[in-house]
Amino acid sequence: MVNTLFRRKFLEHILEELDIEQHRLRRTLNAFDLTILGVGAIIGVGIFVLTGAASATYAGPGVILSFVISGAACTFAALCYAELASSIPVAGSAYNYAYATMGEMIAWIIGWDLILEYVVASIAVAIGWSGYFVNVLKVIGIHIPVWCSSAPGTVPGAVINLPAMLIVLVLTTILVIGIKESARFTSVMVFVKVITVLVFIGIGISHINTENWSPFMPFGLKGVVAGAAIVFFAYIGFDAVSTAAEETKNPQKNMPIGILLSLGICTVLYITVAAILTGMVSYKELNTPAPVAHALVAIGVKWGSALVSAGAVAGITSVLIVMLMGQPRIFFSMSRDGLIPPWICKVHPRFRTPYVAQIITGVVVAAFAGFIDIGTAAELCNIGTLFAFTIVCGGVVVLRKTHPEFRRSFQCPMVPLVPLLGVFSCAWLMLSLPKITWFRFVAWLLIGLTIFFYYGIRHSRLSVQRQ
Ligand code: ALA
Repeated sequence: MVNTLFRRKFLEHILEELDIEQHRLRRTLNAFDLTILGVGAIIGVGIFVLTGAASATYAGPGVILSFVISGAACTFAALCYAELASSIPVAGSAYNYAYATMGEMIAWIIGWDLILEYVVASIAVAIGWSGYFVNVLKVIGIHIPVWCSSAPGTVPGAVINLPAMLIVLVLTTILVIGIKESARFTSVMVFVKVITVLVFIGIGISHINTENWSPFMPFGLKGVVAGAAIVFFAYIGFDAVSTAAEETKNPQKNMPIGILLSLGICTVLYITVAAILTGMVSYKELNTPAPVAHALVAIGVKWGSALVSAGAVAGITSVLIVMLMGQPRIFFSMSRDGLIPPWICKVHPRFRTPYVAQIITGVVVAAFAGFIDIGTAAELCNIGTLFAFTIVCGGVVVLRKTHPEFRRSFQCPMVPLVPLLGVFSCAWLMLSLPKITWFRFVAWLLIGLTIFFYYGIRHSRLSVQRQ
C-alpha cells in the first residue's frame, strides 16, 4: 500500500510524454516572450487592491517591507522552480515535478492544491476587477449601486457583487468559444499595465508626505509579516511561466531567465508603488476597493485616477484570463495520468477547447465571486500556493539526491541552503495566515484525499500499466 501511495512517474516517462506532446505544441517562445508572459500573469489585483487592505489592516506603511519579505520568499521558490523547469520541461509544473520526485499521493495533493490556487485566485481577481470597473464607471458619471456591486458583509447594504460575476461569465464564454489570448494581446496588456504603474509612480512621487510614513510599523513586525502573507498574492503568476515549458525554445536556458526576470521586474515595481502609495495618504484611508485610484483623487489628480483605473481594469482582465485558462491545464495533466475522470477534459467538437472543465471553473468562480470578500479569497489562494512552493523547494533537494546524474542547465545556487530557505520562508508566511484560512485549506485537502482514495488511486495510469 505504502509503495502504491509513493509510486513515482519516471522522469523517462514524463520526457516520453513530452516527445508525444511536441507533436501538438510548437516550441516558439523565447526568454523575452516568457518574461512578458510572467509579467502579464503577475501584475494585477495584488498591487492595485491588496496593498491597500494589507497596509490598512496589518502592516501600515510597513507594507513596503511586507513586499520585500514575500518577494524574498518568492525568489527562493523561483530559483527552485527554475531548476525543476529546466530539468523537467513539461506542462503541469509543480504537479509533474512532485510526481517525479515524491510520488503519486503528493502529486495528487499538489494538483488538488493547484486547482484551489487557480480557482480562488480567479475569484479574488474578479472581485478586484469589479472594484476598479465600478470606479471607472463612476468617473464617467454612471453610478452602480452598492447593493449590487459588493459582497454581503463588506459594506452596509451590500447584497451581491454582480460585476465580478459577469466578467467571469463573459470571459468563460470567450474561452469556451476559443478566441485564444494571442501573444500580441498579451504583450499589449503587459504594456498597458506597466505604463499604468509607471503613470502612478510618476504622479505620486512628487506628492509624498513623509509624515505619512510614521509610525512606520503601527502593528509591529508581526503586522508586517501578516501583511507579507497577504501581498504574497501579488507575486503569484511567475509559476505560470513554467507551465509554458513545452512551448519554449531551449527551455533549459530560457525558462530560468523568464521566471527570474519577470519576478525581478515586478518586485522593483511593487516596492516602489507601496512606498509611494503609503507616502501619498495615511494608510488608514487605504481600505477601499480601489486604493490606488483613491490616493490619486485624495491628492486632487482626478484625471490620473481615471487613467489608472482604466489601465487597472484592462490589466486585471488579462490576469483573469490567464487564471481561468490555467485551471483546465491542471485538469488535463491530472486526467492524462488517470487521476480524475476523463469526461472532465472533454474537448468541444467544434471549438476544440476543454469546454467542460472551462464551464465548471467559470460557474464555480462566478458563484463565489458574487458573495465573498477579496481578503478571504486571497488568503485561501495564498495558503494553497505557499504550500505548493514549499513542496517544489523540497523537490529540488530530493531530486538532486535521487537523480544526481540529471542534466540541469540551470542549477539553483547553494543547494540545500536556498531550497531550505524557500521551505522555511513559505512555511513562515503560511503560519502568519488566520486560523480560519487553515481550517478551509485542510478541509479542501481532506476532500481531495477522499477523492484520491476513492477514484484516483484505482484509475491511475500507473495502476493500469502494472496490470
Ligand atoms: N499576481 C496576480 C495578481 O496580483 C495573481 O492579480
